[in-house]
Amino acid sequence: MLDPGAPSQFSSSSAPSSTGARLMRRKPVERLVAESGRGEGGSLRRSLGLWQLTMISIGATLGTGIFVVLGEAVPDAGPAVTLSFVIAGLTALFSALSYAELAGTIPVSGSSYSYAYATMGELIAWVCGWCLMLEYGVSVAAVAVGWGEYLNELLDGTIGVTIPDALSAPPGDGGIFNLPALIVVLLAMAFLLGGARESARANTIMVVVKIAALLLFCVIGVQGFRSGNYENFMPLGMAGVSAAGATLFFSYIGFDAASTAGEEAKNAQRDLPRAIMLSLLIVTVLYVLVAAVAVGARPWQQFDGSEAALAGIMKDVTGDAFWGTLLAAGAVIAIASVVLTVLYGQTRILFAMSRDGLVPKAFSRVHAKTGTPRVNTVIVSLFCGVLAAAVPLGQLADATSIGTLFAFALVNVAVVVLRRTRPDMPRTFRLPLSPLLPALGFLFCVWMMASLDAVTWMVFGIWMVVGLVFYFSYGYRRSRLATATPEE
Ligand code: ALA
Repeated sequence: MLDPGAPSQFSSSSAPSSTGARLMRRKPVERLVAESGRGEGGSLRRSLGLWQLTMISIGATLGTGIFVVLGEAVPDAGPAVTLSFVIAGLTALFSALSYAELAGTIPVSGSSYSYAYATMGELIAWVCGWCLMLEYGVSVAAVAVGWGEYLNELLDGTIGVTIPDALSAPPGDGGIFNLPALIVVLLAMAFLLGGARESARANTIMVVVKIAALLLFCVIGVQGFRSGNYENFMPLGMAGVSAAGATLFFSYIGFDAASTAGEEAKNAQRDLPRAIMLSLLIVTVLYVLVAAVAVGARPWQQFDGSEAALAGIMKDVTGDAFWGTLLAAGAVIAIASVVLTVLYGQTRILFAMSRDGLVPKAFSRVHAKTGTPRVNTVIVSLFCGVLAAAVPLGQLADATSIGTLFAFALVNVAVVVLRRTRPDMPRTFRLPLSPLLPALGFLFCVWMMASLDAVTWMVFGIWMVVGLVFYFSYGYRRSRLATATPEE
């Protein structure tokens, strides 16, 4: 570990005087690490090993993207949707390498927000943290909605009833309130209040179930494989493939979730980089396999963007509704684990931001008995639950992707900056070919962002303006770096 006492760095960027300097104030890595685990009135518990960290990342990644968004991307890319997954996976891979290096060097809970704070200053860190709220907080809501859709499929297949629209869709989408979306968020909250280790255990079981469900899909789906379905491989050309790639990028979001668990990991510097790389490898292989089987078993023209495409394919191939229902059950569990782990990530990012004074202190208060940020967990869960239940979320998957891509782009810059400014720091993982790979990571992120539509950019612009207003009216003045005395 780094020396927590770490000396001179502590005061070097504290309390700068001009506005420009204040916006650029950086939090020294040693200080980030020294404060690791500490909240208001208590500390987080270090209880997570490599296996659980990997499961957290897979838990946060594998869900709505493959079970729901795949079906929406095929009409754009055709059978080349497999290529779209590879492109989106490459974007994730370059950024994952940068994440892995930074997570091993700065093993705290703030993920890219903390990396940006150490390298590019407070304003960029805030922007990054604000984007992470799209990646985590808003995506929980989007994912919870996908959960409701598969729950209905499951209920229909088992007891022959579905939750009526009024109670399973928000106003504007033909309903009054999306009750299942709220329920899954509250269930996740209950686990998180119990403790990180308990939540990690529940998540591990769910991850095993979802991987099994996808493998089952491959085994059954491959029996309906027709090579003719691949004949017109790229019906809408490369533009369609990259547009589908940008949409499918959503399915990779979450591989970085282990980096929000830095302060609860037993050996964070060693295990975080491994967990990030391992989880990305596992989900990429699964995605390409599932996509290849799906478009092999059903002609691409027949993907109509409906939610439960994989369950439909199982039903078609076997001629037996049972298999579709079984897959729906797998999806219900899969998506619940995304909600659990992504919600976890959001609470830990806010925990780090609160400790820095950029959001209210309540978010870093730790419960003495469970060692978890309870108030934070309840506030975040209620916010996400109500968002999921009451707001039509059609655009949210793409809005989540653009925010995440922006945060990833910053991580690719941060890794290069830290190599330049602190070349001597101990690194448990060094990404190869720097700065070439981070530069490619950055460019891929920009390419994917550019492939998203105008509405998504507008949502993103509004989101950023709201974030900046919040920063200048709150964090700018209350930042602990602004108020810090050199001894702090
Ligand atoms: N990657 C996550 C999912 O696909 C957000 O559900």
